[in-house]
Amino acid sequence: MAKLWGGRFSKNTNELVDAFNASIEFDKRLYHEDIRGSIAHATMLGRAGIIPVADAEEIVTGLKQILADIEAGNFSFEVSLEDIHMNIEARLTERIGSAGARLHTARSRNDQVALDMHMYMKREVVEIGELLLKFEQVLLTVAKEHEKTLMPGYTHLQRAQPITFAHHLLAYFNMLQRDFRRLQGVWAGADIMPLGAGAIAGTTFPIDRFDVASQLNFADVYANSMDAVSDRDYVLEFLSFASILMMHLSRLSEEVCLWSSTEFAFIELDDAFATGSSMMPQKKNPDIAELVRGKTGRVYGHLQAMLVTVKGLPLTYNKDLQEDKEGLFDAIDTIKFSLAVYSDMIATMKVNVDKMEQAVSKDFSNATDLADYLVRKGLPFRQAHEVVGKCVAYAIKNGKFLPEVTLTEYKEFSDLFEEDLLETLKPENCVAARTSYGGPAFTENAKQLIRGAEILNMQRAVLEDLHKKI
Ligand code: ARG
Repeated sequence: MAKLWGGRFSKNTNELVDAFNASIEFDKRLYHEDIRGSIAHATMLGRAGIIPVADAEEIVTGLKQILADIEAGNFSFEVSLEDIHMNIEARLTERIGSAGARLHTARSRNDQVALDMHMYMKREVVEIGELLLKFEQVLLTVAKEHEKTLMPGYTHLQRAQPITFAHHLLAYFNMLQRDFRRLQGVWAGADIMPLGAGAIAGTTFPIDRFDVASQLNFADVYANSMDAVSDRDYVLEFLSFASILMMHLSRLSEEVCLWSSTEFAFIELDDAFATGSSMMPQKKNPDIAELVRGKTGRVYGHLQAMLVTVKGLPLTYNKDLQEDKEGLFDAIDTIKFSLAVYSDMIATMKVNVDKMEQAVSKDFSNATDLADYLVRKGLPFRQAHEVVGKCVAYAIKNGKFLPEVTLTEYKEFSDLFEEDLLETLKPENCVAARTSYGGPAFTENAKQLIRGAEILNMQRAVLEDLHKKI
């Protein structure tokens, strides 16, 4: 097909060049934004008297038909027309003739693609926000069910101190809540309207960029035309958000893999969220968690690729910027899929409360509490630590846990020990006593659940508001 920029060329484009240069295979997913943006642009051109109003109307009608055709699967995208912008414009002009040929007045593909990407980003922020909040809700619900479920908390993957499963899950809830805040930041970076920057230096026509911004629900308009066409910060912000989110899911994945191993057996994934082995009949593998952990690498890769792509680019548009799309789209697809499957996997997993409680009652995770006990009786913490360290060594040597050591034996280490130390050593008391703000005590945890639900509601309200602005 004839190139829309063919005027100064006397030869056809080499076929390899066509194929190499074209972005239509991936940027066709921007068709909706491209058409909506063009409708707003044409409407503004008509209102500003830059093109006849009748032409603007014809353009709008023609574009709506093209949208319907694409959605019905009746549009063939041509590689020779390079990208989504020229595919749609060429088809429009083919359909409505000279009015269509006026659409690109006061516009370049440089500001057009930037507009499409900003609009697309805003829509995806809302869709991803919904999935994120759904997962937050799942974590809150499961945490609420396990307010009383005791388990060992780990440092260095060694049993450290007793906690509840709720406390552990709420840690992830808090991470996701920050992810949502970062997502709001992505929105802010995307909610700036670039059209009207032209190729680089604006236009000689009396355009109204604020009219376009208000038609398309943008809060702001780029204040500098060169910045408008070369800014990809919002893509980087999104990829940073996506990388951090995947990092959170990946850490949880690691725990899901550990917890579902026979060695831990803290959870069992629902059969619908696990897979088998082609050779070993007994296997039930946590493939979903492993895949999410694995896919984290490629999302990091997209962030890295984009940082490197832009780092050496002189202003303004360079074709390198076309490379912003595939990584971004893949990151979007990856996090949406991961969030969706994760919500359902966590909501349906079985929690082996007994296994968790066994683990926490047969170990030394109550040792800090014994040291704190001595501190309450007046011993400086550093000395208490030393004394309990010796008690632990003694217990290990004699094949006992701390509650099994007798008071007479304890007295050998310190005469501050009394009968009441046994109460201190019970895991539920260890948890209950950790009432410091943010701690796992049942009372504190209940407050965290309430606060979590409040935050979730606030985030829902934010999302509802953004929904109206896409
Ligand atoms: N397909 C291009 C991209 O995604 C559109 C902008 C092309 N602009 C240009 N001057 N060649 O970046």
